[in-house]
Amino acid sequence: MFPLKVNDDFLVAEANAKINLHLEVLGIRADGYHELAMVMQSINLSDQLKMMKSEHNNITLKSNSSEISVGDDNLIIKAAKLLRNKVGNTQLGVDIELKKNIPIGAGLAGGSTDAAATLVGLNKLWKLNLENEELEKLSEEIGSDIPFCISGGRQICFGRGEILEKIKFDKFDLGLILVKDPSIQVSTPVAYKKYKEQFGHNYLEDDKDFEIKRNILRSNNWSDKSLLDNRKEIQNDLQKTVCPMAPEVKKSLKILSGLPGSNLVSMSGSGPSCFALFKNYNDAKKVLKQHVNDFERAGLSAWACSMKSNGVQLGNEFT
Ligand code: C5P
Repeated sequence: MFPLKVNDDFLVAEANAKINLHLEVLGIRADGYHELAMVMQSINLSDQLKMMKSEHNNITLKSNSSEISVGDDNLIIKAAKLLRNKVGNTQLGVDIELKKNIPIGAGLAGGSTDAAATLVGLNKLWKLNLENEELEKLSEEIGSDIPFCISGGRQICFGRGEILEKIKFDKFDLGLILVKDPSIQVSTPVAYKKYKEQFGHNYLEDDKDFEIKRNILRSNNWSDKSLLDNRKEIQNDLQKTVCPMAPEVKKSLKILSGLPGSNLVSMSGSGPSCFALFKNYNDAKKVLKQHVNDFERAGLSAWACSMKSNGVQLGNEFT
């Protein structure tokens, strides 16, 4: 998408999916959420949201996907209403069209990134001039992964996922192959609940212990080179719980591990999507092309993706 040159009444926001390069569950918080230590990475699998200012004061949503609700429970509507309330002007209206490409219930933050795009897009369309940091803070109220999705790239995320520490370089050249069995979705609350049942007895309780873990993450080198050279595997704690529950995850990891040149293999978020990292985007595209029949036979949807150094991007046409 090109730099923003929008007509005043209309814009398009591109919302990138994310993968987890690390997901560690540290403990449970007083508010019932889990205390996490993660590294998240934006990828070039994205949804597009077309936003048109409207004369009426309604917020409406249409989508090309029949799998999602377009009612008040959709995070896009929640985000738009949250923003309107924040600035105290419930007269602001918008018609939104969502072109959904990111699979749903996949561990790729599809709903969260749509909410992030709504906040960034409407901030511009409604001329509210809020800073991204203000949008991030606001977005915590409706979802833990939304703050990351606003500026995206590769970031270390603590707390519920909303405390962000940018990694100090921004050129990410790795490629990946992402797979998902279209017949299943994993519910994030169920994954965390089961994880707690299985591993809750090992949770850390003291913030000092959390901080020791956070410092380990901060001192790790999260560059592409270091990921490929030094890491034996990507840690995703939820994989320990979801993998035995969902044979599709095991199947995905097995097929990814067998690909030539696949370096690190992991589940993303609470699954069931899984990915393998490659030296670069071209390698990932080549390997996907060579193995397209294998994925098909295994009943897996597959994408070759690149890493993105940004989250939401604004433009003025659908790609
Ligand atoms: O914040 P979000 O709505 O994305 O979280 C969905 C669910 O995942 C929460 O209701 C909670 O059950 C679980 N969760 C958690 N700890 C986190 C993030 C999510 O237990 N840090």
